[in-house]
Amino acid sequence: DRSVKIAPSILSADFANFGAEIQAVEAQGADWIHVDVMDGHFVPNITFGPATCAAIRPHIKTVMDVHLMIAPVDPYIQAFADAGADVITAHVEAGPHIHRTLQAIRATGAKAGLALNPGTPAEVAAPLLDMVDLICVMTVNPGFGGQKFIHSCVQKVTELREMIGDREVHIEIDGGVDPSTAPLVIAAGADVLVAGSAVFKGGSVQNPVPYGENIRAI
Ligand code: DX5
Ligand code: ZN
Repeated sequence: DRSVKIAPSILSADFANFGAEIQAVEAQGADWIHVDVMDGHFVPNITFGPATCAAIRPHIKTVMDVHLMIAPVDPYIQAFADAGADVITAHVEAGPHIHRTLQAIRATGAKAGLALNPGTPAEVAAPLLDMVDLICVMTVNPGFGGQKFIHSCVQKVTELREMIGDREVHIEIDGGVDPSTAPLVIAAGADVLVAGSAVFKGGSVQNPVPYGENIRAI
């Protein structure tokens, strides 16, 4: 279903070649570029920050979708907006003031995303539905690419789509998306699929054709 957007995560790209990797995966059909920011505190891994986002921004023609797995979030929102993020997603579990965080994201002009870990129920989003442009349903525990899809999260997608009603809110799925799991979340109402390992496997900057094959297979 091509109304569903595929957002390759550069967490699975060659970190020494982000610019070329982004150009390659966009040329092969990526709809958005998903950028995983990790702090070694909210999640047990460290990736990169706003300076890297600013450096890759000129290489992205589509949407720069920045997933912040950091705590605290609020002191860094402006820096990621200044780096050119189109969507900034924060975790409800990352601090006590998610409502304020979402307000602060929208105040920068970026679209606001709300991420829910696998252990967090759909109901936390209920008071926030008019403040978000995207809800990111984590289908792995955040921190690493290449983990196994957690099937119990699919029901949450169904619940969120029902709660969202006729509002214009994307439901993004993040973690373990591949050709076997994608149909389950699309059927439940997801319309943006993040995929890291399933997109980048078998390809490279020198040989990007597998990226396109992998995207079309999802
Ligand atoms: C996990 C990240 C994901 C990750 C997905 O913490 O938020 O975006 O890159 O990787 P795959 O698709 O390999 O599960
Ligand atoms: Zn992510």
